[in-house]
Amino acid sequence: MTITDVQTFYRTSADGGDNPVVMRTKKNKEKEMDNDKNAAAKVLVAYFSATGTTARKAELIAGATRGKIAEIMPEETYSSADLDWNNPRSRSSSEMKNPASRPAIKKEDIDINGYDVVFLGYPIWWDEAPRAVNTFIESHSLKGKRVVPFATSGGSTIANSVRTLKRTYPEIRWNDGKLLNNADAADVEAWAKSVLHN
Ligand SMILES: Cc1cc2nc3c(=O)[nH]c(=O)nc-3n(C[C@H](O)[C@H](O)[C@H](O)COP(=O)(O)O)c2cc1C
Repeated sequence: MTITDVQTFYRTSADGGDNPVVMRTKKNKEKEMDNDKNAAAKVLVAYFSATGTTARKAELIAGATRGKIAEIMPEETYSSADLDWNNPRSRSSSEMKNPASRPAIKKEDIDINGYDVVFLGYPIWWDEAPRAVNTFIESHSLKGKRVVPFATSGGSTIANSVRTLKRTYPEIRWNDGKLLNNADAADVEAWAKSVLHN
């Protein structure tokens, strides 16, 4: 390289130019900024899942947001008889018929104050969030927190469950929420990141 070549190099690469080395550095910078943005919001991914479907989505969200995952675990796990929606007397049927039902959950070691955003996941039960989700909400101080519902279902939308949660807990800053039935890993990750950037 002659002196002129070096000068030209620095001149054209001052703003990145087309120089591959500088382009790479620029890309890394953008990536770092992206990571910083994610790191800025401390994320908790709390979920209840009776048969594992919602759990898989929760893991993807936690991966994409570097969030801490916390499973909402009922003191008494639901057997398949408990989950039988065809039986009006099954445990899940009785709980969902009673809006005041609050099944006991295991105590989690979570300091909710340490988080800016809480993703809250559940399966749709009778078009609503299972009552164990209410137990979780009422066991933590979520006032003023940003809570982002997500759900899986056999076909119902998430809309009614979110409407009910908003009405029951108006002190929480609810996001619209997202049904993740047909979302693959890339879709879930893109959505979770977009929530943090908005
Ligand atoms: C008691 C019970 C009630 C349900 N009610 C609905 C419903 O109203 N609408 C719907 O689309 N799916 C309903 N489902 C199906 C679940 O929402 C669906 O299978 C979900 O993905 C299960 O998630 P999980 O594996 O995380 O528990 C119900 C399932 C159970 C066990």
